[in-house]
Amino acid sequence: MKENKTKFYNLNECKTEFLFESDAEKVVLKEASKPKKPKIYKKIILNTFIICFFITGLSLVLNHYQANETSKIIASLGRISNSNKLDERLNTASNTLNVVDNNYNDKYEVIINKANPISEETVQNYTIISVEDNIYNGIKLEEETYRNYLKLKENLKERGYYINIRSGFRTFNESKIIYNSYEKEKGSSYAEKYVAKPGTSEHNTGLAFDFIISSNKNVYKTDYESDEYFYLENIAYLYGFIIRYPKEKEDITGYNYEPWHLRYVGADLAKYLKKNNLTLEEYYK
Ligand code: DAL
Ligand code: ZN
Repeated sequence: MKENKTKFYNLNECKTEFLFESDAEKVVLKEASKPKKPKIYKKIILNTFIICFFITGLSLVLNHYQANETSKIIASLGRISNSNKLDERLNTASNTLNVVDNNYNDKYEVIINKANPISEETVQNYTIISVEDNIYNGIKLEEETYRNYLKLKENLKERGYYINIRSGFRTFNESKIIYNSYEKEKGSSYAEKYVAKPGTSEHNTGLAFDFIISSNKNVYKTDYESDEYFYLENIAYLYGFIIRYPKEKEDITGYNYEPWHLRYVGADLAKYLKKNNLTLEEYYK
């Protein structure tokens, strides 16, 4: 967007130059309409010719710019239609999500999604505790998830990487508030791509959290192309975590790529999913 603005600015500059030249032309033509001595008349014709030549040149440059701008706009429309494709992919997921028999015998291997909501009663099985030593206050996680998170955090720290949790356990009411505020601000189509409604969010169990990671303690954001992120993405399974909503799996999970959302499933399942590049939806198919 920024680049486009700059280009349009340049385009305006060209237009300004173009207008300026037109004004010059008008002056010259006005002068030309006055009776002049033949010598001066010849000079004016020559000047007019030069100016016309110059204006034609400028027009060509302008056309070139406009063609460039047009192709950029078309390219950006391409991106928009990709995002329409993403909508289609997300809709595909909504129609193909399997209903799974979650028996909750293993409370860490459960699948929670739009087709497999968890009840407010069942979430009582998860023991929720407070996260300490985190730059955001008031964060809570399920107890086994927290124990493994601390091990993951230690591994990262040894490498000079700092992880912090931005959002952990959410009550149903908190999920409702978050969903409604996204919907109000960005519309339901956007909200549905990123936020789960109460009972369909893994955050309601405390097994999932959204994190930031950086080599700099004072940087409160993550570069998802960074070495830090790459490293985390590759070792998280050792501690039982998976990137729950991976890229290119939107039509399977029903959510946009969320590099920041980790889900605890236990070390065995996490290893299996990582090795076979599977989401929980594919595993339970
Ligand atoms: N962002 C995920 C989908 C959630 O709200 O649980
Ligand atoms: Zn999340």
